[in-house]
Amino acid sequence: MKTEIVTISSAQPDHKLIEQAANVLRSGGLVAFPTETVYGLGADALNEDAVQNVFRTKGRPPDNPLIVHIAETDQLFELGQKVSATARSLAEAFWPGPLTLVVVSRNIVPSIVTAGLNTVAVRIPNHVVPRELIRTLRHGIVGPSANLSGRPSPTTAQHVFDDLNGKIEMILDAGPTTIGVESTVVDVTSHPPTILRFGGLTRERIEEIVGRVFTTEDIESLKRSPGTRHRHYATKARIVLIRENDIDGCRKQMRTFLDDRKKIGLIYHSDEFGVHEGGGAVMKLPFHLEEYSAQIFAALRKMDALNVDVILVESVAESGLGKAIMDRLRRASG
Ligand code: TXA
Ligand code: MG
Repeated sequence: MKTEIVTISSAQPDHKLIEQAANVLRSGGLVAFPTETVYGLGADALNEDAVQNVFRTKGRPPDNPLIVHIAETDQLFELGQKVSATARSLAEAFWPGPLTLVVVSRNIVPSIVTAGLNTVAVRIPNHVVPRELIRTLRHGIVGPSANLSGRPSPTTAQHVFDDLNGKIEMILDAGPTTIGVESTVVDVTSHPPTILRFGGLTRERIEEIVGRVFTTEDIESLKRSPGTRHRHYATKARIVLIRENDIDGCRKQMRTFLDDRKKIGLIYHSDEFGVHEGGGAVMKLPFHLEEYSAQIFAALRKMDALNVDVILVESVAESGLGKAIMDRLRRASG
């Protein structure tokens, strides 16, 4: 199969291109699309064969359910039931945006989408391209991150192409995504709601609307989001986390790996880290977490392209977006 990369404006998407993408989805094909978080791998959420193909194409474990992307809040009530007042206020406050709500699902949602759970995850992306696509198709579209399962999530069309070339019909390219980490997944069937996955919307902003929430640290592991149990975001190189600002710790690690003749990469953001002994790849990311998150997955992929054996990554402070970033880095480090 030839994978077509189609450039599309994120301000005013050309309707002919949207129609072309919708036709691919109507015939059961797969279209990768941009969102504000990461690129998604789209299929018609009500077409079981197409959804099956999403799992096959990504190599995704069948017990890991998918997010259904919608364009208007009304569609939440078509897919979900018993939607609580809390869920409604979160949707009103943050949609479109990097928030996924887990609600009790209706029969219309194929069980392959929910991996057999009685809940369904739903979100409205803050990006015109997928919303126009959904409106044109008139159905929700499933959208896992458009990477091979286990790899860092794609934040550019090129990342998608690198993972899925020849396996999907089309990639809609609207440039790099702005947030760079996935949506925050919140289970609103529990009281208080539970953050199942930290992401682009911070806990602090959620709590401003609904008061204190739980996180997976507060509940039994069984109820956790299935996706958080699998190894994720893996680079070919081993990832070793360094404490923030810990230059001595970093030097020590470097010496050990250099003694082992390993090729080292370093990703840091504190100015002090500027020194790097020995050959290797060094990348400085912005200190500001909003900009950092937009670049971290691309940095990990770049390190892999440089064929390093070990990537030393300086940790970031764990508040706000730092929660999501450290979650991804920890899972990447296995
Ligand atoms: O930002 C995002 O959310 C991106 C873009 C493309 O929208 N999508 C994304 O999808 O990250 P994916 O499939 O890579 O991650 C979906 C997460 C997984 O951790 C999955 O286990 C969880 O959502 N999830 C989906 N349905 C669920 C459900 N019914 N109950 C609990 N967790 C669920
Ligand atoms: Mg993913």
